[in-house]
Amino acid sequence: MRARGERRSVVVTAGPTREHVDPVRYMTNESSGRMGFAIAAAAARAGHRVALIAGPVELKTPPGVKRVDVVSARDMLEAVRQAFRGADALYMAAAVADWRPARKRAGKWREKDQGAEVASLDLVRNPDILATVARGKGDRLVVGFALETGSGLRRARAKLVKKGADYIVLNDASALNAERTSVTILAKGGDRQRIVNKPKQTVAEALVALMAEA
Ligand code: CTP
Repeated sequence: MRARGERRSVVVTAGPTREHVDPVRYMTNESSGRMGFAIAAAAARAGHRVALIAGPVELKTPPGVKRVDVVSARDMLEAVRQAFRGADALYMAAAVADWRPARKRAGKWREKDQGAEVASLDLVRNPDILATVARGKGDRLVVGFALETGSGLRRARAKLVKKGADYIVLNDASALNAERTSVTILAKGGDRQRIVNKPKQTVAEALVALMAEA
């Protein structure tokens, strides 16, 4: 058990990933990156060493944070693996795309030129970064997120177990692009902490405090 207040090395992911169809088109999602950036900022303010692995977002790097920009889920996996090697904790706040086009076309996708009214795109599963990295985590802290519609508690708890995280932070779609959020922090051991309609900064501070309990 480490002493409270000790300086840790923390990896935080944030934002969406982009999965390219061709050089100019891609699949992505609505993540703003704000939650992950807030965690990185809160961890740096608490005196920790922070690596922030960010998908494409328009946000300023918080002071004292080392930022690595990535585009796709596979890029993010590589960056997380590397950064987590020497780290004590991982917060997977990124909204990683579950799927990517089976191939990225070298030139623009031109199905429409042949007069097609319907087109389809083959997709393949992206690696699960959280599950992959959690497998070799040892006693290091790993926190995942789940965005569920409806109550989602049962699904979030299943994710916690399946992905091998220590905590899952459950939020709903109202968190997207918002300044404030409500979350339920589910612990591996069964504990549950609810934070209602607070600025993301307050939620981030509660999540950084989990390190002191690990
Ligand atoms: N995650 C990941 N790699 C993926 C997909 C998700 O590391 N390829 C992580 C996310 O960063 C997050 C958690 O896993 O911490 C979310 O799990 P996911 O199953 O993707 O849940 P949601 O996107 O919330 O919802 P859905 O079940 O609809 O995919």
